[in-house]
Amino acid sequence: MSDEAYVAELRNLFPVVEHWTYLYNGGIHPCPRPVGDAMRSFLYQWEEGGRDAWPSAYEAFSRLKEKFAELIHASASNIVITESTTAGINLAAQILSPQPGQNVVVTDLAFMSDTYPWLVSHAAAELRFVKSRDGKIYLEDLEPLIDEYTAVLTICAVTVGSGFRIDLSEVHTITSKYNVPLLVDAAQALGLIDIDVNDPLLDFLVCTAGKWLMGPTGVGFLYVGERFLNATPPAVGWLSAANRNEWDVYHCQLHQDAMRFQGGMPNLIGVVGALAGLELLEQIGRDFVERRVRDLTSYAIEGLQEIGVKIWTPRADHERAGIVFFCDPRYQDLYEKLKNARIYCGSFLCGIRIDPNFYNTFEEIDKFLSVVRSHVIRNME
Ligand SMILES: Cc1ncc(COP(=O)(O)O)c(C=O)c1O
Repeated sequence: MSDEAYVAELRNLFPVVEHWTYLYNGGIHPCPRPVGDAMRSFLYQWEEGGRDAWPSAYEAFSRLKEKFAELIHASASNIVITESTTAGINLAAQILSPQPGQNVVVTDLAFMSDTYPWLVSHAAAELRFVKSRDGKIYLEDLEPLIDEYTAVLTICAVTVGSGFRIDLSEVHTITSKYNVPLLVDAAQALGLIDIDVNDPLLDFLVCTAGKWLMGPTGVGFLYVGERFLNATPPAVGWLSAANRNEWDVYHCQLHQDAMRFQGGMPNLIGVVGALAGLELLEQIGRDFVERRVRDLTSYAIEGLQEIGVKIWTPRADHERAGIVFFCDPRYQDLYEKLKNARIYCGSFLCGIRIDPNFYNTFEEIDKFLSVVRSHVIRNME
């Protein structure tokens, strides 16, 4: 079957495409039908059976940890299910708990959640920003900020704005010189690019169940590397305890793995939906998704180059993933024009972002480019 025929089939799983040329994967990405179905079915089971819904949902919780782990070549025993990427970053920050005299290194291409925990909750440590150039982080700008007092380097595998994809192995050669923990935010990356937490060796990785993983909001995860696995959890609950079935309120025997960082009842509807998202991704095939998204984004970049807008996203395939961002002095106006043409994209910082997914078509990119072209021509007149 040709890619186009396969995509035509897959589009039936995404009701949103009937209403929009949907070229955005940020914020709340479109809900695939199988994810909605899984959540509806859980709700039905819960309404009809009450606690009877628990065993299968708890099984989904365990399977979800396994699936998240598989994505990053890890073991489920290193995975904490969180409510979001942000919650994962904050948990990692609490485990690391940088002290006065230490520093934390972030980049100016980070998402807010990558810098705010250090700015607000762990402000005793000095916060150092690597400044980007041309939408990229250069290692020669990063290296001088790292030293033996660095408590952690937080880095996005793919950045939210320019969409720059950093070479984690190169970053690791710098952090490993000083034995600095590496926290990778993979929210814009997983599902699209392969990350192996063993190569290079990562200490923490956070991600959402949404975006490229197609699950609902309210679920994410934190990978905790071996050297932090026996840390005292900053917050504990019944799920943290290996002896929870003893109902011993006097003694808490913490799990020996990442389960010690789980607190209370998980977001079961979200868990069931997140698992369905990962199963769908597996069914479609990550290789297909990656290839299709690369083809669509390359096509969009070529078209935008021809129009002559200022593209912020690096051009080389290995330096980008699913995001294409360009700046425009009147981007809010353009955003409205696109919306009026029923084209959904992102609009923030200096411009417009699209992140087409595997279910998008080249005709949809053409439609988008034609609105951008007439906007640019009109503004030159
Ligand atoms: C790189 C990155 N990290 C974190 C987040 C926040 O994710 P969450 O809402 O799951 O905390 C986003 C959201 O766009 C993001 O792009």
